[in-house]
Amino acid sequence: MSIVSSSKEFPILAQARAQGIDLGALPHHVAIIMDGNGRWAKRKGLARLLGHREGYMTLKKVIRAASDLGIKYLTVYAFSAENWRRPEDEVAGIMKLIEKATREELQNMHKNNVRINVAGRIEEVPAGLRDALLHGIETTAANTGITFTLAVNYGGRAEIVDAVKAIVTSGVPADQIDESTISNHLYNAAQPEPDLMVRTAGEMRWSNFLIWQSAYCELHVTNVTWPEFTEVDFLEAVKVFQQRTRKFGTVVDQPQ
Ligand code: FPP
Repeated sequence: MSIVSSSKEFPILAQARAQGIDLGALPHHVAIIMDGNGRWAKRKGLARLLGHREGYMTLKKVIRAASDLGIKYLTVYAFSAENWRRPEDEVAGIMKLIEKATREELQNMHKNNVRINVAGRIEEVPAGLRDALLHGIETTAANTGITFTLAVNYGGRAEIVDAVKAIVTSGVPADQIDESTISNHLYNAAQPEPDLMVRTAGEMRWSNFLIWQSAYCELHVTNVTWPEFTEVDFLEAVKVFQQRTRKFGTVVDQPQ
């Protein structure tokens, strides 16, 4: 009689090994600038909002892939503080889509041990979205799997401004302020800084995303638009990350 193991392995793990990924050296925190929804829609002759809707489908797949792979933190740029300048109907559509997605995916994420989190001035977003986010955070607060952070109404400079305000309010003397003081007052101070930032749709810029935390982050830009981005592209980004030599300002062969 053969003994069959009952423990099931997530298919993405085999796929990752096949793509040459070292599962023992994954990035701890991956940040994603999900760009190109509009361009994807335009190319297909569709309304921009349909691009965002398709982007939501991609996001579902990527959360699942990152979670199954064993990545501990995933942060995505869903709506920037600058995105309010877009046409009113697009802004309203994106807000509604994020709210719908948060409500629709909650049970599934909870079942998969995902912890939901936010970054940004969520007090300024529509009440329905804010409630959905807060409900998601509360429901999943005790989960121990991947922490999934939605950056909504997020700006990196605004985050630093908010940190400085909090520091001044708490009365820290100027001569006691150092880099760790700033880091400790950011929105998600307890999280490790991102070690890999992925940007889709080819633009070579940071767009005010996690600018303090990304000081030593590896950047991977792919020309693929966000709606077209797949698990294979995600694994490719992880592989590229593993091929980089991270120096943190030192030299590679520096004696200890
Ligand atoms: C950038 O594409 C994308 C956004 C500003 C919004 C991101 C939103 C989603 C991916 C929708 C799903 C998100 C959630 C959380 C459900 P763009 O419009 O700037 O594209 P373009 O540069 O080609 O015009």
